Amino acid sequence: MTEFERVATVSELTQAGRKSVIVDDVPVLLVRVGEEFFAVEDVCSHDGQPLTDGLVVDGMITCPRHGARFDLKTGHHLCMPATRPIASYPVQVRDDAIYVGPPGAVPPPVADKAPGAVPAIPTDLPVVSAASATSGDAVPTPEPGADDELRLIDALKQVVDPELMINIIDLGLVYSINRDAKKIYVEMTLTSPACPAGPQIVQQSKMALERLRDVDEAEIKLVMSPPWTPDRMTDEAKDMLGIF
Ligand code: FES
Repeated sequence: MTEFERVATVSELTQAGRKSVIVDDVPVLLVRVGEEFFAVEDVCSHDGQPLTDGLVVDGMITCPRHGARFDLKTGHHLCMPATRPIASYPVQVRDDAIYVGPPGAVPPPVADKAPGAVPAIPTDLPVVSAASATSGDAVPTPEPGADDELRLIDALKQVVDPELMINIIDLGLVYSINRDAKKIYVEMTLTSPACPAGPQIVQQSKMALERLRDVDEAEIKLVMSPPWTPDRMTDEAKDMLGIF
């Protein structure tokens, strides 16, 4: 790849959506976090697992196979078992089109205020706003990072699918968790669109997060794409269900 290639449109990705694309014969995962877009190699550097279904939290993606975590902006590996980074690609948004360039490349300049002018290119991870200045609000908003991610994941692990008796994280039902100050956005799915436990799982997920002192509100969005498959479960969950 020598120049920026058009790979998708903004409207193809939901606020926390993702899309696998092939760029220069390399699988690349495009991830949207709010109004920002990231592109990383869609191959875990540990053992080759596609990251497509990995959980996205606070600008990091977790490999669904053994749990290695990578920074979506830089591709850096953040925990074992990964010992090497994955490639990250610069992303440029022009109107409704998303372009991906070679690693390290600088997006081409765009005409200012010309017809069809390109919007500013987001370059930083989401900024968490300062804690509320409301009088009496003594709970600070935590910095996004691995610790906050683990706390949010632990909270959601309290929610158990009543039919399978396995928590929703180990079942692989949660696709993304994002924080904007004290509001948490979760995209999750169900084991089937007709799952009768859906409303209960959604409600319990919301309550589990809103019980945290630094969370004012949790917005849980059910998505059916990509559909859930047993491959999304952790090895431990598969063991519990006798799936090998
Ligand atoms: S293949 Fe990704 S952590 Fe092992």
